[in-house]
Amino acid sequence: MMKKEKIKIVEVGARDGLQNEKQELSVELKVELIERLAACGLTTIESGSFVSPKWVPQMAGSDQVLQQLNASPKRSKAVKYAALTPNLQGLEGALAANADEVAVFTAASDVFTQKNINCTVQQSLERIRPVLDHARTVGLPVRGYVSTVMGCPYQGEVDVNKVVDVAQALLDMGCYEISLGDTIGVGTPAKTQQLIRTLAMHLPMSQLAVHFHDTYGQALANIYAALELGIRTVDSSVAGLGGCPYAKGASGNVATEDVVYMLNGLGYDSSVDLQALAQTGAWISEQLNRPNGSKAGLAIAANQ
Ligand code: HMG
Ligand code: MG
Repeated sequence: MMKKEKIKIVEVGARDGLQNEKQELSVELKVELIERLAACGLTTIESGSFVSPKWVPQMAGSDQVLQQLNASPKRSKAVKYAALTPNLQGLEGALAANADEVAVFTAASDVFTQKNINCTVQQSLERIRPVLDHARTVGLPVRGYVSTVMGCPYQGEVDVNKVVDVAQALLDMGCYEISLGDTIGVGTPAKTQQLIRTLAMHLPMSQLAVHFHDTYGQALANIYAALELGIRTVDSSVAGLGGCPYAKGASGNVATEDVVYMLNGLGYDSSVDLQALAQTGAWISEQLNRPNGSKAGLAIAANQ
């Protein structure tokens, strides 16, 4: 039998998801969520964010979350706990808490970047450079996010060439991978393919990942369109948690359960236990007192 091709899932529910949920979770519940996700077979899990707690209070305590995860008897070396770091101060926090990798983030739109991190795209790249320089000296892998690749909540259309330039700049500085953020979920499959085809003329496909929010219900179709072109890394969020605090109306990421169900149907290997993941999605939705945003999760629960 032919070996199934592997798709890497970057689970962002405990960061992108929780950063935009009204109800703040305790450190203990965040740790429980992340450990449950790891037990489902997810191996790259964003577990916190070292940003200003005045800007994003939901991510306060990320240092304790990472410390507890690292000290836990359930800690598996196969699992990477990642954290967002906007600047050197954030990187210092992530290093002190022993994050396995960090992610820097900027966008292809100045106005979004200004609202999100209080500077222009160019200024953000200048802030990010020392983060990458320092991370390199300590051997810490850094992922780079480019937000608003399909559209910006403030300026509307975004120039594809701007996405290419910012992605290229992040790779040149030393990011090992670029995650393409459809922050407000406005992309469609045709637009997704156009963006990826353009990027692939300049950057290696193996260093690109996709990050779709599901605001207009296009995320799964967009992921399929991206897989068809050779993308092999997909970001998703258990139970479709979250959104973005600086993009009004943006709904959560595509649900991990839905992505795994689709990957299984396409014959890819995601190495994730879908039943256990559906249970985790149902559990966290209950803890947050919110509807479960995963259709596959709801269907699996209804059939149990
Ligand atoms: P600023 O006000 O311009 O920063 O904020 P500053 O350097 O002038 O510092 C101001 C205060 O913030 C100081 O404290 C600093 O110590 C503190 P004060 O003296 O006033 O008490 N500060 C920090 N505190 C903790 N951790 C830090 C840090 N840095 C400074 N790392 C800053 C700039 C970036 C800090 C701020 O704008 C911020 O935290 N923004 C949050 C942005 C954010 O988290 N957005 C959501 C994540 S991005 C996203 O979701 C998109 C993504 O999913 C992809 C997609 O969907 O497209 C990744
Ligand atoms: Mg996001």
